[in-house]
Amino acid sequence: MKVMIVGGGGREHAIAVSVKKSAGADKIYCAPGNAGIGQIAECVPIGAMEFDKLVAFAEENEIDLVIVGMDDPLVGGLVDEMEAAGIRTFGPRKNAAILEGSKAFSKDLMKKYGIPTAAYENFDSAKEALAYLDTVKFPIVLKADGLALGKGVLICNTLEEARAGVKSIMLDKQFGAAGTRMVIEEFMQGREVSVLSFVDGKTIKTMTSAQDHKRAKDGDQGLNTGGMGTFSPSPFYTPEVDAFCKEHIYQKTVDAMAAEGRPFKGIIFFGLMLTEEGPKVLEYNARFGDPEAQVVLPRMKNDILEVMEACIDGTLDQIDLQFEDNAAVCVVLASEGYPVSYEKGCLIRGLEQFEGKEGYYCFHAGTKRTEEGIVTNGGRVLGVTALGADLRQARKNAYTATEWIQFNNKYMRSDIGKAIDDAQ
Ligand code: AMP
Ligand code: GLY
Repeated sequence: MKVMIVGGGGREHAIAVSVKKSAGADKIYCAPGNAGIGQIAECVPIGAMEFDKLVAFAEENEIDLVIVGMDDPLVGGLVDEMEAAGIRTFGPRKNAAILEGSKAFSKDLMKKYGIPTAAYENFDSAKEALAYLDTVKFPIVLKADGLALGKGVLICNTLEEARAGVKSIMLDKQFGAAGTRMVIEEFMQGREVSVLSFVDGKTIKTMTSAQDHKRAKDGDQGLNTGGMGTFSPSPFYTPEVDAFCKEHIYQKTVDAMAAEGRPFKGIIFFGLMLTEEGPKVLEYNARFGDPEAQVVLPRMKNDILEVMEACIDGTLDQIDLQFEDNAAVCVVLASEGYPVSYEKGCLIRGLEQFEGKEGYYCFHAGTKRTEEGIVTNGGRVLGVTALGADLRQARKNAYTATEWIQFNNKYMRSDIGKAIDDAQ
C-alpha cells in the first residue's frame, strides 16, 4: 500500500514510524515532512494547506491511503477534497472536524447532549461579551472560537484582564478570524488528561491515556506552548474515571455527531479535566495530540493501518485495540526563547545515538536537512521518547536520552512526568 501523511511535526513523525512498522506499508510519502520523517519516508515539498497540489500528487502517485495529521487541513476540508477525487483518506470530513474547528459548536453540542463540560456562553458581539463579564465570577476563561495554534485561550483573574482579553480577541483580532466568535466559560480546577480515540462514525475505541505539559517552564510556569512533554499512561486516569467517561462522554460524543448528521471518522482527542465533580471535557481535537502521539503510538500493539482502514470502512467494532503494559515519557527539546523568539539553523549533534536502540525514539518537529547536516528549524525541535517498565523508569530513560543530543540553545523542562510522584 502507498501511504501519504499530511503534516510535518513530531506527531506526523510518530505516525510515520507506526506506519513504517505496518505490514501493509510499501511506500510512505509525507507532505511536507521534516528531516527525521525523511529518513523513513519520501518528503514532498507541498504545504498542508495546498489542497489542489496534494490531491494532484495523490492521484499521480496512486496513493492508496492519505492520513491527515494536522488540524488546519482537516478543518479546511482536505478529507472531502481527497474523497471527491476518489482517494481513501483517514480523518474527519469538514462537517465533523468542526468539533475542533469551532469551540462554540463543541460547547453547544455538549450542552445539547448532556456531556459534562464547564458552564459557558457564546458571543458574536464584543459588546455583549463585555456586558456579560459584569455578571461572572473570577477567574474566568476566554476562548477564541476558531483554530489559534493552541493559543486562543486566556485565563483571566480580574475584570480588567477579562475586558482586555475580549478586546484583543474580538476587536483587535489577536487570533485573526478565529476571534469572530468567542466562548466565555467557567474556570475549572483539576488535573488534565488527554485521551485519544479511534472512531469509525459509530464505534469508538479509546487509546491509553496521556498527560501533556503545556507551559514553557518547570513547575507549570511561563507561557503556554504547543506542549513541552508528555507521559503515558496517566496514573490519575483510574478505572473509575475511565468508566465514568465511557458512560458520559465518549460514546455520547460519537452518537451526538452522528445524530447531527456529522458522522465522525478519524481521531477524537478528548482533553479532560478531572474536577471534584467528576471528569469534564475541556476541549475536543479532531486529530492526534502533539506530543501525545509521541508517547501513545509507541505503546500501541496494533497495526496502525489496519485500525485506520477499519475506521474508514466502519468496521472498528472488529478491532481489539491493545497497548503494551509499559510506560512512555517524551521530553521536548526546544530552542531557548520558545514560544516567543528563538534562533534557527543550529547544527544538531548526536541523532545517530538513537539508531538501533530499542525503546528509544527521537521524533523530529522543527528540523531541516542542510549540507552541513540536520539543523534546528523551529521552536520545538525534537521529542525524545523512551519506554520503560513503568513511568519512573521511562522518565529516567527519556532524560538519559536527552543528553545524547546537543545543539546551541537547547532547552527542555526538567520536570516532565514529575506529577507521577503525586500519584503514590
Ligand atoms: P484548550 O485549547 O481549550 O485545551 O485550552 C488550553 C488550556 O487552557 C487547557 O489545556 C487548560 O489548561 C486551560 N483551560 C481551558 N479551558 C479551561 C477551563 N474552563 N478551566 C481551566 N482551565 C482551562
Ligand atoms: N498536546 C495538545 C494538542 O495537541 O493539542
